[in-house]
Amino acid sequence: MTSHPPFPTPADAPIGVFDSGVGGLSVLRHIRAQLPQEHLIYLADSGHAPYGGKTEAFVVERALAIAAYLTGKGVKALVVACNTATVAAIKAVRAHYPELPVVGVEPGLKPGAAATRNGKVGVLATVRTLQGEKLLQLRDQIAASTGAQFLLQPCPGLVDLIEQGELDSAATDALLTGFIAPLLEQGADTLVLGCTHYPFVLPAIERAVLAAGGHDVKLIDTGDAVARQLARLLEGGGLQRPGSVGHPPMLHGYTTGGVDALAPAFRSLLQLDVVVEPLKI
Ligand code: DGL
Repeated sequence: MTSHPPFPTPADAPIGVFDSGVGGLSVLRHIRAQLPQEHLIYLADSGHAPYGGKTEAFVVERALAIAAYLTGKGVKALVVACNTATVAAIKAVRAHYPELPVVGVEPGLKPGAAATRNGKVGVLATVRTLQGEKLLQLRDQIAASTGAQFLLQPCPGLVDLIEQGELDSAATDALLTGFIAPLLEQGADTLVLGCTHYPFVLPAIERAVLAAGGHDVKLIDTGDAVARQLARLLEGGGLQRPGSVGHPPMLHGYTTGGVDALAPAFRSLLQLDVVVEPLKI
């Protein structure tokens, strides 16, 4: 296994966060809000995005390559800030790094079931996520325990538009209306955002809900819960970095795609100036 660069204490090591592209930034913003003292490394696998239409084996291979790179950087914890990679690969990542705290993000079926008033919950996610065994088991388990009905809606093409920065375009509105209108027609009163890219098109999702005649439709995002789970794990392992000592927290970006895409995404989506390095893994 790769040796870790030295950090003054294990608590001083960074947290690694990755996604297929810019979607994980919607999780990163919650992590920064809840754990502002932590050093963070964000890795966008944009050279291989989107994951949503790829095979499970491909996504597992990418997740393991990224986990190997980030553990080589000495991360003290790993956040799989991607529903698709969590559903396909978190088991394999945990099996390879049994000592490492690993937090994933899955479509919020449980909060969706808690929020619905009529028992009908629409789930917007990638094709790969909605075909994953882990997701289907979760759906069956929560449906059995709550009586909720989950309407699974794959959203091919949406991640591509978000990666291209089309957060407010007519094309994005049209695509979203095509996905959301059938869910509302079937009676869904709650929609789960089952992909970390989707919070970045929240206004467009709200427009599509209104265009489809929906009102009082609850939207569920789990970014905040993921950050809380990370905080719990760090605290449990005595790994939280103290706030007042040493260097100010660093945030460093890596991308397997174009540097000229990730740095502007940090700026436009999170209002942050971040040094981004290209990476070949
Ligand atoms: N952000 C990823 C997710 O949460 C996007 C998947 C993709 O690359 O298609 O599922």
